[in-house]
Amino acid sequence: MQVATFCRMDHELVVTRRGSRSGLPITVAVHSTARGPAAGGCRIKQYPHWRDGVTDALRLSAAMTGKTTIAGLPLGGGKTVVAVPPGHVFDRRDLLLDIGDTIAFLDGRYATGPDVGTGPDDMAVIAERTTHVFCRPQSAGGSGDSSLHTAIGVVAALRAVCEQRFGTADLSGRSFAILGLGRVGAHVLRLLATEKAHLVAADVDDTRRDLAVRHGAAWTSPQDCLNAGVDVLVPAALGGLLTAATVPGLRCAAIAGPANNQLDEPATARLLHERGILWAPDVVVSAGGLIHATAVELLHETPEQVTARLHDIGTTLTRILQRAAAAATTPATVVDQLLAGDSI
Ligand code: PHE
Repeated sequence: MQVATFCRMDHELVVTRRGSRSGLPITVAVHSTARGPAAGGCRIKQYPHWRDGVTDALRLSAAMTGKTTIAGLPLGGGKTVVAVPPGHVFDRRDLLLDIGDTIAFLDGRYATGPDVGTGPDDMAVIAERTTHVFCRPQSAGGSGDSSLHTAIGVVAALRAVCEQRFGTADLSGRSFAILGLGRVGAHVLRLLATEKAHLVAADVDDTRRDLAVRHGAAWTSPQDCLNAGVDVLVPAALGGLLTAATVPGLRCAAIAGPANNQLDEPATARLLHERGILWAPDVVVSAGGLIHATAVELLHETPEQVTARLHDIGTTLTRILQRAAAAATTPATVVDQLLAGDSI
């Protein structure tokens, strides 16, 4: 008889409950509170099965610990995921109040923020049930929409990547394929257009096409965007797009974007490295929104201090990329070393 291998539980606390008003399965995963209360966004998204939402919450919350640690914030990592059954129509307010109750139940161990499928107005409703919420609208006393700040951090990261890969941080004339024009992707598109970059863009939602064209981007299918022959691919939608199946088809020289958990599994970083594609770890690239919200709402920093923190994303990434190059290893490996307590 085979003896099952016991897999250690990495998370401090995981709560899944059926919302009393909405009936929807809400998971809050608290990966770590070692550095401070766990923080991480609230994702509302369709999943084939509610257990898939739990799995995603586990992965996303662990990534948040990486994000807060590398960014040097006094926070741990957590995430909320609401798994909406395909095609299910729900009362948004009911669901948000249920989410608020679930976060209140955790009594300060976790604070939420916006993520895929949620924004500042949703945070204001969640805040009716708990104080542990970032990014309420400014009119409601919060730091507001974090997506522009995430995008500013992404551009800082893109400069660092271009410097490392092409020898110059100048983005003008460089080509980028932006995969996903949601809140953050749309800001990245606009900022890169301002830099006079060559742009390709895609989104599963065809209504985003106008926005792309208005900023001078060539509109493609998501598949063609993924495989575009550009300097840098910018994943700005859902994660899991870099896999053993998709890496061979890539035609970019580097990848850096705000999507969380871009690799399907850690080993994929090595596949990218072997193909000569420089991959900037998403826990570093995507931290701008969280950094802004924390610096404003928790640390009460000045706008200058907040701007400096966003700029630091580029500095930190440069150090990581340089150390990886010097050791002929992947940037992902360097991030793992940092999370294990090394300094650079
Ligand atoms: N969605 C954000 C992220 O993945 C989470 C967040 C943003 C949390 C802002 C709090 C404040 O980093």
